[in-house]
Amino acid sequence: MMAKPVMRTLTLLGSTGSIGTSTLDVVRRNRHQFQVYALAAGGNVEALTSQILEFQPRVAVVATAAALARLTRALADSSLNRSDWPELSSGEHALVEIATASEVDTVLSAIVGVAGLEATYEAVCRGKRIGLANKEVLVSAGKLVMDAVRQHAAELIPVDSEHNGAHQCLRAGSRGQVTKLILTASGGPFRNATAEILARVTPEQALNHPTWRMGNRITIDSATLMNKGFEVIEACWLFDFAPSQIDVVIHPQSTVHAMIEYSDGSVLAQISATDMRMPIQYALTWPDRCEAPVPKIDWTAARKWEFHAPDYQRFPLLRLAYECQETGGSATCTLNAADEVAVEAFLSGALPFLSIYEIVAETLSRAPSRTPHSIGDILEIDRESRVLARELASAYRPNAVTA
Ligand SMILES: NC(=O)c1ccc[n+]([C@@H]2O[C@H](COP(=O)([O-])OP(=O)(O)OC[C@H]3O[C@@H](n4cnc5c(N)ncnc54)[C@H](OP(=O)(O)O)[C@@H]3O)[C@@H](O)[C@H]2O)c1
Repeated sequence: MMAKPVMRTLTLLGSTGSIGTSTLDVVRRNRHQFQVYALAAGGNVEALTSQILEFQPRVAVVATAAALARLTRALADSSLNRSDWPELSSGEHALVEIATASEVDTVLSAIVGVAGLEATYEAVCRGKRIGLANKEVLVSAGKLVMDAVRQHAAELIPVDSEHNGAHQCLRAGSRGQVTKLILTASGGPFRNATAEILARVTPEQALNHPTWRMGNRITIDSATLMNKGFEVIEACWLFDFAPSQIDVVIHPQSTVHAMIEYSDGSVLAQISATDMRMPIQYALTWPDRCEAPVPKIDWTAARKWEFHAPDYQRFPLLRLAYECQETGGSATCTLNAADEVAVEAFLSGALPFLSIYEIVAETLSRAPSRTPHSIGDILEIDRESRVLARELASAYRPNAVTA
C-alpha cells in the first residue's frame, strides 16, 4: 500500500516571480499535498491579488507600505469578502515573520537579491525545510547559512536545476566517494559570439535566453556566465566542495543539469525536461517523488547533446567567481552586490555588456576584505559594495573605470 503523502504548509517568498509562479503551479497540481500559509511579493499587486484569490493564504506580504496600500485597494475591488482577506503586511520584518511562523514547515525562497536573505536565514534557524532558489543567500552568506543549517538541522534542498541535479546524483553513493561535480551551462545567447559582437550586445539581445525564461537579473547573469559562477559558489557551500573540485561544461541543450564523478571514474548525470517545475517539485516533496509536472523526455526522438569547455577569456566573470570563493570572507558578497548594480546599469543603457565585468572586478579590488560574523555584517558589506559599484558605474567612461 502507498504511504499517504505528507501535507506541507508553505510560505512562498517571491510568489509573483518566475520561480514563484512555477511553484504555485506545482501546488495547484498537488492540492492534496500542499497548503499555502503565506505569499510574499515585491510590488506586483495585480499578480499577488489573483494568487490570493486562488490560493487563499493566511498572510500576504509586499515590499513597501506603498505596495501594501495598492494591494489593499486591489483586494477591495476584488470579489473576495473582507472576512476572507489574508492578514496583510509589508517590509523585511514581515518576511521574517512568515518564514518563521510555527504553522509553516516549508519555505520556498525565491525572492531575487539579498531582500530574501534574512527571512531565509531565520527559517533555517527554526529548522524548517527550505527550497532554495534565491542564489544570493549562499553567494552572500554561505558560511553563516551552512553553519546554521548544521546547527539547527534544517533541510536545505536546492531548487536551482544544476544543484538540484547534483543533489539527486549524490543520493547514489557516499559523499566520501565523490571526486568531482560537473555543472552544466547553456552558455547563454552569446556562447559563440566573438569579442567584437559581445562589445555591442544590447539589453534586448541579452534578455533573449535560448533555453530558460527567467527574471531579468538571472537572464543577464546567464549571458555573462556570472550566473554559472554563482552556481559554483553555491555548490561549494551546499555540498562541501573546494572550487577546484567543480567543473563547468557548456551544454547548450540544457537537459543534463549536473553530473557527479565518483572515485572509480563513474559519472552519474541528472537529466530532465528544461522546466523549473521539476526541481521545485523535487525540493518540496523530497525524499519522495510525485507525478511529473511536465511532459517526460521522449527517448524515441533523435537528439544530439554537446559538451564543451567554457571560454574564460570571453566570460571572465566565471573565473572571477572561482577566485572569490577561494579568497573567502566578504569577497563573494561583494561580487554579488557589484554584479547586481552593474547588471542594472547595463539594462538601463548606462553600461556596455563587457563593462559589467570591469565594474565588478574594480569594485572587488577597491572593497576592503572582511570576515562577516552575522547577517547584519553581510547586509552592511552588501550595502557598501553597492555604493562603491554605483560610484564606479556612474563614473563610467569607456576604458576609464580604473582611472
Ligand atoms: N527563474 C529561474 O529559472 C531561476 C533558476 C534558478 C535560480 N533562480 C533564482 O531564484 C531567485 C528568483 O528568480 P526569478 O527568476 O523568479 O526572479 P523574478 O522573476 O525577478 O522574481 C523575483 C521575485 O522576488 C520578489 N521580490 C523582489 N523584491 C522583493 C522584496 N523586497 N520583498 C518581497 N519580494 C520581493 C518579486 O516580486 P514583484 O515581482 O512583485 O516585485 C518576485 O516575486 C533569484 O535569486 C534567481 O537567481 C531562478
